[in-house]
Amino acid sequence: MDEIQAIGVVGGGQMGSGIAQLGAMHGLPVWLVDTDPEALVRATKSISSSIQRFVSKGQLSQKAGSDALRLLRCTSNLEDLSSVDIVIEAIVESEDVKKRLFSQLDKMTKPSAILASNTSSISITRLASSTSRPRQVIGMHFMNPPPIMRLVEIVRGADTSDETFSATKALAERFGKAVVCSQDYAGFIVNRILMPMINEAFFTLYTGVSTKEDIDAGMKLGTNHPMGPLELADFIGLDVCLSIMKVLHAGLGDSKYAPCPLLVQYVDAGRLGRKRGIGVYDYRKAPEVVKPKPSL
Ligand SMILES: NC(=O)c1ccc[n+]([C@@H]2O[C@H](COP(=O)([O-])OP(=O)(O)OC[C@H]3O[C@@H](n4cnc5c(N)ncnc54)[C@H](O)[C@@H]3O)[C@@H](O)[C@H]2O)c1
Repeated sequence: MDEIQAIGVVGGGQMGSGIAQLGAMHGLPVWLVDTDPEALVRATKSISSSIQRFVSKGQLSQKAGSDALRLLRCTSNLEDLSSVDIVIEAIVESEDVKKRLFSQLDKMTKPSAILASNTSSISITRLASSTSRPRQVIGMHFMNPPPIMRLVEIVRGADTSDETFSATKALAERFGKAVVCSQDYAGFIVNRILMPMINEAFFTLYTGVSTKEDIDAGMKLGTNHPMGPLELADFIGLDVCLSIMKVLHAGLGDSKYAPCPLLVQYVDAGRLGRKRGIGVYDYRKAPEVVKPKPSL
């Protein structure tokens, strides 16, 4: 397989925009595709301001920042991906929607292209089954936010080839990431462990064990986590957390993965977290600061 020289990213939300930024910052031409033109406007703004932050911290030269922005092209047309070497999909966490996209990508990308998914939990083997090239389908799971977080979790489907694995790993390393490898089981490594903890934090709130502030402060101060689980859920997106819990529940068949009713209710109410201005916390007014209580 040739070295990756151009990439496509589908989905210009918080993850896709960050992945596109990483590609451009590492010298690769990037096509960023989203069906929603407003998402592309938001993505362009957030990529420019993130690159500007790298420049003002002295982590990127002004020239490298401008070069990166020039390498980025936004489009709503999937056909623009016809010449890229890899497509990294970062759309909504729904198996049916992702499968439809993989089937379309299979028809319009060049035969040698790798089709990677940034899915948090969905089976790579099942996504691959909607294409004619299962050997070239792989999970490339970035952490949020992609330009900052060091890890990429690589997930091999049942038929993923060694060549696809090596090229994907080399790309993650070119982005300066550390790689861990997972077999293709629901939630892989990180979300298999993280999401049940977040779900349990919702149960802790739901059953009145404590307040949201104390649950978050307890986990931050008691276990050295940089963010409390409820704050983190708001950051990830409560819709994304709920989708992952449903995949764990269905895929692993154990009632311990059943989503907390409070998480379900927040999503039903449109309280999706920071991206909507309200989730467990309300970001539309002055941010609520989690203050640890002094202990005696
Ligand atoms: N949020 C996180 O912390 C996080 C972390 C790692 C992985 N992920 C995974 O990344 C993926 C995206 O998550 P996100 O948080 O960026 O979501 P998001 O809601 O911020 O963005 C999704 C984007 O995809 C676009 N989209 C939806 N269907 C599309 C289609 N058919 N074609 C093109 N664009 C389409 C939407 O318009 C939206 O802009 C999900 O699979 C999620 O599980 C999320």
